[in-house]
Amino acid sequence: MYQPGLKGVIATETEISFIDGEQGTLLYRGLPAYTFVQYYTFEETAFYILYGKFPNESECDQFESKLVNNRHIPKYVKKIMDQLPENLGIMDVLRTTISSLDMNEEEAELKLIAVIPTIISYRYRKMKKLQEVEPDPSIHSHVENFVYMLTEKKEKNVVAILETYLILTMEHGLNASTFAARVTISTKSDLIAAITSALGTMKGPLHGGAPTGVIRLLDEINTIDRIHDVILAKLKKKERIMGFGHRVYKTVDPRATALKDTITNMDEVPLWMELAIETERETIKLLNEYKPNQKLYTNVEYYAAAIMKTLDIDSELFTAIFSSSRIVGWCAHAIEQSNNNTIYRPAVKYVGKNNPNAR
Ligand code: ACO
Repeated sequence: MYQPGLKGVIATETEISFIDGEQGTLLYRGLPAYTFVQYYTFEETAFYILYGKFPNESECDQFESKLVNNRHIPKYVKKIMDQLPENLGIMDVLRTTISSLDMNEEEAELKLIAVIPTIISYRYRKMKKLQEVEPDPSIHSHVENFVYMLTEKKEKNVVAILETYLILTMEHGLNASTFAARVTISTKSDLIAAITSALGTMKGPLHGGAPTGVIRLLDEINTIDRIHDVILAKLKKKERIMGFGHRVYKTVDPRATALKDTITNMDEVPLWMELAIETERETIKLLNEYKPNQKLYTNVEYYAAAIMKTLDIDSELFTAIFSSSRIVGWCAHAIEQSNNNTIYRPAVKYVGKNNPNAR
């Protein structure tokens, strides 16, 4: 049976997450993803997703300290980073940098989670001609230190919003980048190679690159009275509306709802949120008319863009920041794949010249 894009094909078993696309449910190892936003930190959620249990107090302290101790970029890696062309995008830099890391396999997942925010911040500040901000070992929280390295600020509300986003995007089944990581590890290659594959896959505008497209869309619409015309023109030209549609969700993505609530519950709701909410309403209506039966609704990237805009984070950083949380899911899947491995090697249907099966 041939299924383009492996749509609906079950390629492996997993205990890491469960998605019900019709109901809009996302569970991390049996618990709703939103529970982790309400009751757990980034570190506790990552531990639970990686190892399948909650850490006790000493395990949690140890996990946190290991993340703190592994934040620094090795000197030789910084040298490589410094030599990369200035115009190289941040995802390309992240991919190249990660692939240059020399790590022994022991707890490599932890070292990767720890160092990614530093790589992103180092490169970002260099691009903006800002002075480097080293990781601060007195800041124990992974997310707080990330915000500090990027912005030199320690604003609690910014940290809380970013932590919500990072927790909600840590893991999501066999999406394209996670699949890429599992395929690589299934050849008995190493974790660095698997994460390099995942990063290359994440970069694409149909996957992790979508929020930039959402911001571009909202900027183009600009005022509420233009929403209908702009969206309609795009649909007539058969363009995809960024931030809508999902391979698995056939209703609103629960992560989009959670992110939207986070912003609308803020003391001061940003003015442009009205434009985002109206655009969502009108786009769903038009998609329903133009693509009946496709069940196209808002996906996580739509409100991820809103979160980034609220936090005043440059759009060039979006996909890299998404990767800084999804690294947890990639590593959990790599571990799961290694523990019960069959190499991925699907078949193809030959449709070229001199096809012996064609009649
Ligand atoms: N805008 C307009 N039409 C759409 C959209 C969209 N955003 N998404 C799907 N469609 C239409 C397609 O044109 C197609 O219509 P057709 O059958 O008339 O040609 C139909 O819906 C099915 O589309 P597929 O590409 O087959 O659906 P698939 O499940 O493969 O696509 C995807 C999922 C890639 C996310 C798609 O919805 C899309 O391109 N969305 C826009 C990009 C985006 O927001 N990506 C972020 C996804 S979330 C994440 O990766 C974390």
